[in-house]
Amino acid sequence: MVVILLGPPGVGKGTQGALLSKESNLRHLSTGDLLREARRDGTSLGREAQRYMDAGELVPDRLMVDLVRDFLKRLAGDRGIAFDGFPRTVAQAEALARALGDVGRRVDAVLVLEAPDAVLVKRISGRRVSPGGRVYHVSNDPPRVDGVCDATGEPLINRDDDQPDTVRRRMEVYRQQTEPLIRFYEDSDARVIRVDGDRPVSDIQSAMRAALEEIGALDGVEPRGGHP
Ligand code: AP5
Repeated sequence: MVVILLGPPGVGKGTQGALLSKESNLRHLSTGDLLREARRDGTSLGREAQRYMDAGELVPDRLMVDLVRDFLKRLAGDRGIAFDGFPRTVAQAEALARALGDVGRRVDAVLVLEAPDAVLVKRISGRRVSPGGRVYHVSNDPPRVDGVCDATGEPLINRDDDQPDTVRRRMEVYRQQTEPLIRFYEDSDARVIRVDGDRPVSDIQSAMRAALEEIGALDGVEPRGGHP
């Protein structure tokens, strides 16, 4: 099964992708996380991506498509995928369809998470992350000890692209370049399911699971448990 989590910055794609991965055998693939990892490792991809990410712009399609193709090649054949943050342009969606087609797969479902802009801004301004990418929120999902990652004990930081000006630009880029994908997938064979993302995390998680079960997308998918 191939699922895409689509939605604006801060709507909860990463949070829900990690949960979905824990309760199924779907592999959660966040291209934002892959890019941040490449930046931390100082790879040429990381260096090239940095200026786009810091400006709130999209990293060029050619880099993103190569990155995802590489990932798909390494993925065990029987494992499903929950894409988070990919595709983000029609060109990426077309490239994904070709790459999946090459291995006999296709996009089964697109979960569109939605929430008002004011909610997104509040979530992003309160987001704190560990250097390894574990996500918290100062009031909605605080760590046990203020400012410290529960898992690693490292100090929590703000994401570089969570500054207000950059967030505004990321939201514009979403509306201009990524939102049209909803129409793109409505015109395809994939099931497009809109999910109200302005609710507690567990309610969204249950709604997503119910929607995927209803269309049979989780048939035969066993929970994995453990960390994604
Ligand atoms: P990426 O990392 O994908 O950022 P994004 O899409 O802007 O999404 P976010 O990570 O900001 O938010 P989210 O929806 O995952 O929310 P989260 O769960 O963290 O991309 C970053 C950059 O990389 C892009 O701008 C671009 O430059 C580049 N990039 C990545 N992919 C690319 C691609 N395919 N093509 C080109 N460029 C690409 O939640 C947010 C906060 O809210 C957290 O603090 C969380 O704890 C809290 N929260 C979550 N859910 C709830 C809830 N229900 N109630 C209350 N609080 C909640």
